[in-house]
Amino acid sequence: MALSIRAIEPRDAGAFQAFVEALSPQARYHRFLAPVRELAPALLAMLVAPDQARHFGFAAFSGAQLIGEARAVALGASGRSEFALAVADAWQRRGIGRRLLEVLAAAVRGAGQSALQGEISHGNAAMIDFVRHNGFRLASCPGDARLVLAERAA
Ligand SMILES: CC(C)(COP(=O)(O)OP(=O)(O)OC[C@H]1O[C@@H](n2cnc3c(N)ncnc32)[C@H](O)[C@@H]1OP(=O)(O)O)[C@@H](O)C(=O)NCCC(=O)NCCS
Repeated sequence: MALSIRAIEPRDAGAFQAFVEALSPQARYHRFLAPVRELAPALLAMLVAPDQARHFGFAAFSGAQLIGEARAVALGASGRSEFALAVADAWQRRGIGRRLLEVLAAAVRGAGQSALQGEISHGNAAMIDFVRHNGFRLASCPGDARLVLAERAA
């Protein structure tokens, strides 16, 4: 089944909740930096209705199955956006994370933002390797020794 990536929309709420619930507990923890099992209705509604101006959200699909998510939110007027992404466990290491990141970065650039940054748990070896291979610099995270900060030009 061919992979497609498009902006996430309110009609994706059910597929997005199913995606989150199906992630391994560890992947969910790494994505949300909290022990989330499912998304509360208000959070789900917010995550599937980004304004695609200061809050971008994209989803990857295999057919109707939502298998990946990438998101960036502008940090005030700093010109920087905070990003996060996740790929369904069974679909990891096939380049989907990289494709989602590049779609997200292009959208953020198009909105005039200059940089992407993300907070990553120290224990998230996969994401640390992923960002290193995708042009990010790593730095310690001011105020939280459990996290590292990844930054790169959008
Ligand atoms: C991090 C994540 C998004 C990567 O997605 P992906 O689709 O597997 O990434 P890609 O296939 O595009 O890139 C693969 C590269 O990422 C790194 N990587 C991915 N999984 C890895 C793992 N388990 N161990 C080490 N490196 C890993 C490697 O550099 C790998 O390159 P390689 O396969 O040539 O060694 C995915 O592992 C994930 O969803 N993790 C759970 C959620 C999460 O941690 N999100 C980050 C929150 S900020």
